[in-house]
Amino acid sequence: MKKSITLILILLLTAVSFAQDSKFIYATMDAADAVYFKTLHPDEMTILASNDYQAAVFISEEVTHSIHDNVTTHGPGYIFRSSKEKALEALERVEPKKLLIDYTITEDAFVNECLDLVDGQKIEDVIRVLEDYGTRYHTRPQAEQAVLDLQTRWDNMISAAGRTDIHTRIFTHVNTPMPSVILTIDGANTPDEFVIIGGHIDSTASPSDDDAPGADDDASGIATLTEMVRVLLAKNFVPNRTIEVMAFAAEEVGLVGSDEIAAKYAVDGVDVAAYVQFDMTAYKGSAEDIYITTDPYNSTELNDFLMELMDHYNGSGAHAFTYGTTICNYGCSDHASWANYGYNAAFPFEAAFGEHNPNIHRAGDTFAFLNNTDHAVKFAKLGLEFLIEAAKPQILSVEDFSELAMNIYVKNKTLNYQLKNTASNVKQLEIFNVAGQKVFSDALNNASGEVKLEHFSQGFYISKFVLENGHSLTQKFILN
Ligand code: BES
Ligand code: ZN
Repeated sequence: MKKSITLILILLLTAVSFAQDSKFIYATMDAADAVYFKTLHPDEMTILASNDYQAAVFISEEVTHSIHDNVTTHGPGYIFRSSKEKALEALERVEPKKLLIDYTITEDAFVNECLDLVDGQKIEDVIRVLEDYGTRYHTRPQAEQAVLDLQTRWDNMISAAGRTDIHTRIFTHVNTPMPSVILTIDGANTPDEFVIIGGHIDSTASPSDDDAPGADDDASGIATLTEMVRVLLAKNFVPNRTIEVMAFAAEEVGLVGSDEIAAKYAVDGVDVAAYVQFDMTAYKGSAEDIYITTDPYNSTELNDFLMELMDHYNGSGAHAFTYGTTICNYGCSDHASWANYGYNAAFPFEAAFGEHNPNIHRAGDTFAFLNNTDHAVKFAKLGLEFLIEAAKPQILSVEDFSELAMNIYVKNKTLNYQLKNTASNVKQLEIFNVAGQKVFSDALNNASGEVKLEHFSQGFYISKFVLENGHSLTQKFILN
């Protein structure tokens, strides 16, 4: 009897202390803001440590809401940390391990063809689908469903385009039940170098009992990214570097999803050449169109590159729009996670800070309030310019072809091939037109064979035979 009472007591005590613990979280935030919030909520906040820029804090749920509520006027935010150790660790500045990337603008013709295809209606369709889930708060089943359905949408687009070099995957998290989804387009020449663009798919309401359809924040970003993928698929784009498009979980509760993903990339030593965030793309609140955020944690080089792209592609003509600069003042969105781990990050925003959509985190953040996608279309264009120029189309070399390795000839619109060293088989044949676009791709498993090309128009092509051993042989041929 006595024993069971003790047991019940222990269980009760554990439950109570767990309930109390779960109301407090570890986080890092701007050092000056931490001092300010400590004066507002002395009993609900502990500053564990701080450096010149950031403080590690232990804060109550009320304080996190108070931080959120101040965002539109004041601008502080916080980054969730799963333990005291993680919060303290995050204070140690990560030395940027910046991958040297050639920020050049060389793909004029292809980029302009892509810009012509951007369709605002498609962006609207996806925003409307996402706002119909209701609040996509990270603990709600609707949030997870939105992620799974987005994955299905992307998968359907990929299979309709017949692309076997593009995949999606779910990233499950430790600190939120909500998953993230990642789309990967394998780089053809330097697949270990990554160019990444993303946005968050969760939403939040404050006060927390309100609705948060999150049309602008951030269904707009997800819809803009989806439209960019549609255009790249329509143009059969094969990048040189690997491209990833990410829809993050749980941004609104302290960059939880992107922090876990960026941390994993950093631990795995993944070379991310550049990261760009699309969070709120559909509301025009200021005189210029796109505002590049110039907070000190962002990459100056990457920001300069985005501005050069807009000077080059959007200075005049059919795709013209304007840009300015602004600052968030804090780690206001997922790009801060990538910057935290030393990667080049940038965040082009919909307006000057403070003139952005006044309805975010509220029931009024609907497509009806946005009215159209004219603004988001500009972001889709900048996003395409960025992905194509930073990842570059596949480099086709004819130098790696050895006459000794492979025989090919074309007769009656049929390509015949024969591998001389039969120790390896041909695994894949790809054919490109002179514009570098992939016009044919088929899985093979032999050392010789023929491929009928009767539906191809006359002209110059490049064949690429990928062998079992990973080598590839490239050869030009003429079809007449
Ligand atoms: N989309 C907002 C960020 C934002 C709002 C940027 C207004 C610029 C102007 C984002 O989803 C958000 O609300 N972020 C949180 C910070 C996060 C670390 C919890 C915020 O700003 O409170
Ligand atoms: Zn947002």
